[in-house]
Amino acid sequence: MSPTTEKTTPTAESALRVEGLSKTFTVGGMLSRRKVRALDSVDLDIGTGEIVALVGESGSGKSTLARCVARLEAPESGRIVVDGEDVLRTERRRASRAYRGRVQMVFQDPFGSLNPVHRIEYVVTRSVELHGSPEARRDPRARAAELLETVGLDASYLDRFPHELSGGQRQRVSIARALGAEPQLILADEPTSMLDVSVRIGILNLLGRLRDETGVSILYVTHDLASARYLADRTVVMYRGRAVEGGESLALLGDPVHPYTQLLLSAVPDPERSGSYDPVRRAEMRREVERWLGPEHAPRAVVRRTVDATSQHWVAEPVDGLA
Ligand SMILES: Nc1ncnc2c1ncn2[C@@H]1O[C@H](COP(=O)(O)OP(=O)(O)O)[C@@H](O)[C@H]1O
Ligand SMILES: [Mg+2]
Repeated sequence: MSPTTEKTTPTAESALRVEGLSKTFTVGGMLSRRKVRALDSVDLDIGTGEIVALVGESGSGKSTLARCVARLEAPESGRIVVDGEDVLRTERRRASRAYRGRVQMVFQDPFGSLNPVHRIEYVVTRSVELHGSPEARRDPRARAAELLETVGLDASYLDRFPHELSGGQRQRVSIARALGAEPQLILADEPTSMLDVSVRIGILNLLGRLRDETGVSILYVTHDLASARYLADRTVVMYRGRAVEGGESLALLGDPVHPYTQLLLSAVPDPERSGSYDPVRRAEMRREVERWLGPEHAPRAVVRRTVDATSQHWVAEPVDGLA
């Protein structure tokens, strides 16, 4: 059963619009085969130059959504519109080179995402050569040096290998590589979760600055609500493959309506909130989440209700109410 949702009105300024996106994986062996609904009719949009955070616990479908938009994964149904183009029609089988240039992904694992046999120069210039502007392609090494500077590394890094870099430096190289393609949209999938706490803020600030300076739109995937509040203009909360609540980050996380968002927030340490971890209260919240969503094998139909139009705050509520 798919939830009914109010369709968001298409806006000319949308960098990305996802509508009713669904994806099911079949997992397990011959005797234990079962289906996992990784995405269940998800709607999401990102304006030009906007940073939207996608938050939710592990397994909620965040990476699957990002991977579908990057065309690394094929959804069963739904629409993905990038800059007005209906991608699942125009990029039917796999993403074209042009599309891969426009939509760049930064992955979680900075150790796995850079090929160890290539120097940083190769990593960045290749992106410039494949996707960069004619001007940038005239001198890819110079452009690569410029890009490293942009991400806070100097030109001496061009001649180094990934193993000579720290996790934070590698993630900066991954971002430079993405920028080399001059993308309209960056999909950053937990870009800081494998980094030392001390360098995370630097990467978040870098993403924020890039958006300010270049107007690139960013989908920031994270399980860390505090960083979503820090970086993202708007936040969308996912649970079990569904988008359950969204809105401007400060409004949404300041006054969450969905019990799942409340549960997530209650796990974030907050000096302003009194009271310590309360297992009884948390068990209550879990039951409330189940009541809103229905059992996993038979989820309840939901509708998007506007909580506050000014802050674009909405929540997915059961169609038949919460009696
Ligand atoms: N390639 C895959 N094959 C089978 N199951 C998958 C695959 N990718 C994701 N899943 C399943 O889909 C669900 C959503 O996963 P994912 O999108 O990675 O969540 P998140 O990024 O929020 O942690 C999970 O149950 C996960 O096990
Ligand atoms: Mg993930």
